[in-house]
Amino acid sequence: MKVIALNASPRGKDQSKTELLLNSLVEGMRSAHADVEVINLRSRKIRYCIGCYTCWTKTPGICVHKDDMSTELFPKFLESDLAVYATPLYHFGVNAQLKTFIERTLPAVEPFIIEHKGKAAHPLRGRHPLIVSLSVAGFPESSIFDLMSSHLRYIYGKALIGEIYRPAAETMTQPGFEQVRADICDAVKQAGAELVKTFTVSDETMKRITQPIVDLETMREYGNSMWQAYIDAGVTPQEAMERGIRGT
Ligand SMILES: Cc1cc2nc3c(=O)[nH]c(=O)nc-3n(C[C@H](O)[C@H](O)[C@H](O)COP(=O)(O)O)c2cc1C
Repeated sequence: MKVIALNASPRGKDQSKTELLLNSLVEGMRSAHADVEVINLRSRKIRYCIGCYTCWTKTPGICVHKDDMSTELFPKFLESDLAVYATPLYHFGVNAQLKTFIERTLPAVEPFIIEHKGKAAHPLRGRHPLIVSLSVAGFPESSIFDLMSSHLRYIYGKALIGEIYRPAAETMTQPGFEQVRADICDAVKQAGAELVKTFTVSDETMKRITQPIVDLETMREYGNSMWQAYIDAGVTPQEAMERGIRGT
């Protein structure tokens, strides 16, 4: 199985929880003999779709832009059997980097309008990979991913074969959570292997990935004292980590 794993987090590996879990997923996929290429979108130039419809009319299937998306990423995406969309949750949806990527896949469909399950849709121009989404968020409830999930399900329907969402992802990497973090990473690795072997993630594995680790009251207490300490010291979370500054 050929997999393209798109990491949309703007943060680097010391900080990014998306990258932390994506690494586990990819490890699991490779253990099941998938051929996985990881691409950090932050290191690529992807221009916005400008809505010119050149890719639907003058040059069917080919975007008017000449950038990393048209020359490298889109051809690789179409050749893949599976694409992983890995994004931090931003404002309850996919972040701008991933949304920009998704919009630039417009040449994958034709302009014609068809009816699909009673709704308007565009037919695929050719092959299209299956999709797996992976996301992390700061807040503790699993329901914070509902809007993103319903958006991706609306776009991809049955082609969205897996959704891996980890709330309280920042808490997961705090001191005291080492064991639970290791278990979650191991479960995400297991999910990667299951996706390659069975095209789905088992309920048991999903349960481990989404296990509750902190309630709202505890997060409020701990998180607010942490942010106050950063504000008082005039440091970003990354600088606070480097200097060992923590809440009370
Ligand atoms: C612009 C922005 C918007 C965010 N929006 C949400 C949100 O809607 N819900 C939430 O729980 N966390 C939100 N977060 C927190 C991130 O999802 C969280 O810090 C996550 O771990 C970031 O992923 P990364 O470490 O891979 O960059 C937001 C963070 C930023 C910077």
